[in-house]
Amino acid sequence: MKNSSLNVVILAAGAGKRMRSEVPKVLHPLAGKAMLAHVLDTARGLGAQKICVVVGHGGDAVRAAFPAPDIDWADQSPQLGTGHALLQALPHIDPAAPTLVLYGDVPLTRDATLHRLIEAAGQSNLALLTAQVLNPHGYGRIVRIDGQVKRIVEEKDADDAERAIGEINTGMLVAPAAALARWLTGLGNQNAQGEYYLTDIVALAVSEGCKVVTAHPGAAWETDGVNNKAQLAQLERVYQRNIAEALLEAGTTLADPARIDVRGELTCEADVFIDVGCVFEGKVSVGAGTTLSANCVLKNCTIGAGVLVKPFCHIEDAVVGANSIIGPYARLRPGTKLGNEVHIGNFCEIKNSDIASGSKVNHLSYIGDTSMGSRVNIGAGTITCNYDGANKFRTVIEDDVFIGSDTQLVAPVTVGRGATLGAGTTLTKDAPADQLTVSRAKQISMASWKRPQKIKKD
Ligand code: UD1
Ligand code: MG
Repeated sequence: MKNSSLNVVILAAGAGKRMRSEVPKVLHPLAGKAMLAHVLDTARGLGAQKICVVVGHGGDAVRAAFPAPDIDWADQSPQLGTGHALLQALPHIDPAAPTLVLYGDVPLTRDATLHRLIEAAGQSNLALLTAQVLNPHGYGRIVRIDGQVKRIVEEKDADDAERAIGEINTGMLVAPAAALARWLTGLGNQNAQGEYYLTDIVALAVSEGCKVVTAHPGAAWETDGVNNKAQLAQLERVYQRNIAEALLEAGTTLADPARIDVRGELTCEADVFIDVGCVFEGKVSVGAGTTLSANCVLKNCTIGAGVLVKPFCHIEDAVVGANSIIGPYARLRPGTKLGNEVHIGNFCEIKNSDIASGSKVNHLSYIGDTSMGSRVNIGAGTITCNYDGANKFRTVIEDDVFIGSDTQLVAPVTVGRGATLGAGTTLTKDAPADQLTVSRAKQISMASWKRPQKIKKD
């Protein structure tokens, strides 16, 4: 559902002292993405025409982190309260449209909840997102008379009876922009905190006869804010649990839904198995029937169908073809493209290389800046020497090549189709197709040689 016209204002000027960090609070990552980025995505998902972020503490760093052209920035300095914060945004928004207020440190609100709030507001109501909670301590309380909302009272200004109210203000609301302009300029700061409270607009709306309505979040965590690292960690777990549930729902098998971390977008075809401790970053897609064993880190990569990734692999900006076997302890670095049925074994590093189908690099090797054909066998400890300290050069290894162990290929160099390199070769010139090439000191044996003896000291 898109809204024909909607302003979204995101309040993000608070200091966030309890994060005990030099980094502005809203830039702290949740699931690998700044909290503010989650809120901005929510705003965009609602189809907002105008998005204004109010910044104060660390404002320059926050702006710099979001160069997007669809964001207007408003400065609030000094920070005199939430009402004062929203006032700074007014010049940036459409005065004819309803305005949704979100917080930059409340990252996980779902679209469905906000749609209900926006619908409740319509064009002329003030709609508050409120919730019944067991422990309302610290929140503004919703004061109702005969079921009608009359005002919001902050914890620090509340009397005992008001503190006993279990319905709290989540802080999110929708109001007509023109009315907001009127209400916000009428706010005072005669309260326990000496701040201009946004919440005081409720009493002003009621006094004008404006209808005040409420909507409620689908789950409590949707309105949880982050003030410290413990709350950030809690919301991270909520986010990860939701992702894990969605994966299970879609048919992925997870060894333990509590031990997977997705910091980006993971898509799995049917019958994928993911063992514990795997971390996914950026965009990762996994083909049908593939197994990802324990403790793998996959970033921006495409893994084909029927692949077995053994434990402790690191795969980044790479493509792995169907039915390949990777690891354990393999590292596929950016620019790696593996065909089908490729085997990359333990302690092998591949970078910026194409390896065609059926080829094997199984033990302790480095393959960089290489084009490798099909059915190639790379012996243990083979190294492509692709870098002379100043420039990088390519190695070409054609189809059906067999390379003996402990070989160095000093690039640029080509190994012709069907060639064999003897173990220990340091290849500095092209190796012709179908021949054995070997560079190795001649082996000699000395019949008269005696092993040195320890000199006796007296
Ligand atoms: C606010 C509400 C309270 C509600 C609670 C929900 C007011 C007066 N109170 O209280 O009713 O229950 O949120 O968490 O609104 N901010 C600015 N500029 C400021 C002050 C705050 O941008 O001058 C931003 C903060 O960065 C934060 C948000 O507004 O994102 C809320 O501020 P916070 O100080 O947490 O408000 P509370 O006192 O918790
Ligand atoms: Mg707060």
